Amino acid sequence: MTLVKPKVLITRKILKEALDYLQEHTDSEIGPPDRNLTKQEIVEKIGDKEGLFSLLVDTIDKEVLDSAHSLKIIANCAVGYNNIDIEEAKKRGILVTNTPGVLTETTADLTWALIFAVARRIPEADRFTRSKKFKGWELDLFLGKEVTRKRLGIIGMGRIGRAVALRAQAFDMETVYSDSHRLSPEDENKFKASFLPLEELLSTSDIITIHAALTPQTFHLLSKEKLSLINKEAFIVNASRGPIIDEMALAEALEKGQIWGAGLDVYEREPEIEEKLLSLDNVVLLPHIGSATYETRLKMAMMAARNLVQGLKGERPENLVV
Ligand code: DGY
Repeated sequence: MTLVKPKVLITRKILKEALDYLQEHTDSEIGPPDRNLTKQEIVEKIGDKEGLFSLLVDTIDKEVLDSAHSLKIIANCAVGYNNIDIEEAKKRGILVTNTPGVLTETTADLTWALIFAVARRIPEADRFTRSKKFKGWELDLFLGKEVTRKRLGIIGMGRIGRAVALRAQAFDMETVYSDSHRLSPEDENKFKASFLPLEELLSTSDIITIHAALTPQTFHLLSKEKLSLINKEAFIVNASRGPIIDEMALAEALEKGQIWGAGLDVYEREPEIEEKLLSLDNVVLLPHIGSATYETRLKMAMMAARNLVQGLKGERPENLVV
């Protein structure tokens, strides 16, 4: 007797190991290798699927869920799940899972790469050198900012924020954080981080880094008004979600020199980037690669694939969001 495998939609071709695992356990329809399915395509294909393997760029909203007649589980291959209408999924009894933990260290490392890229003006200096402008050592060539012993302000002290704080200890920094939940005294001691209200963190930190989840409460958390509190000599890094910063207001502040610099891995309307940012030298721009190492992306894909299969088998998936 051949067992009927549950039908699954994978919105884009994923790493081979995860694909092999999913193909062993499910009857999967796989999106193209070089682009994501459009929302319309997902709407057209989701009808008879019991499982959906989604990526953070797939918008899984009410319209998609209205077209899903057999869907039991959405396994998002990301720790963030702001691309999914969680309330609508919950109403329909559809499980949603994410991939926490496996990308913590990788994203914290990338945050530090951005911090140093901005502080020491690495991409700007690289562009200068490649264009054969280097004419020899100069006392004041590409002067940047010290990182050691500066004050680091972390907005969002979850897993990634804490991993960033641990790394800050190597640079003898004073770490302050702002979060809706205060750490226990033991954890404040372990991460050598003191709690500050957001306004105070913004006005007193030399380096500000965001590690919050995108929710209605954190949308434009760094509004034009909040950005204006940041010290003129300070810089800001964001490797969490773009809409947490008012991107247009940030671009204006950087252009006017109201903030010294910025390092961004994420944008308000990805893949669009506020035009002004593209021409500014005091901003380092990356294409949302926070968790992009082969090892981590494989762990994320395998975790999402296992969650999906567990849910389809009627088991409680390991990383259940709702
Ligand atoms: C996530 O998992 O939310 C990250 O942004 C992926 O890089």
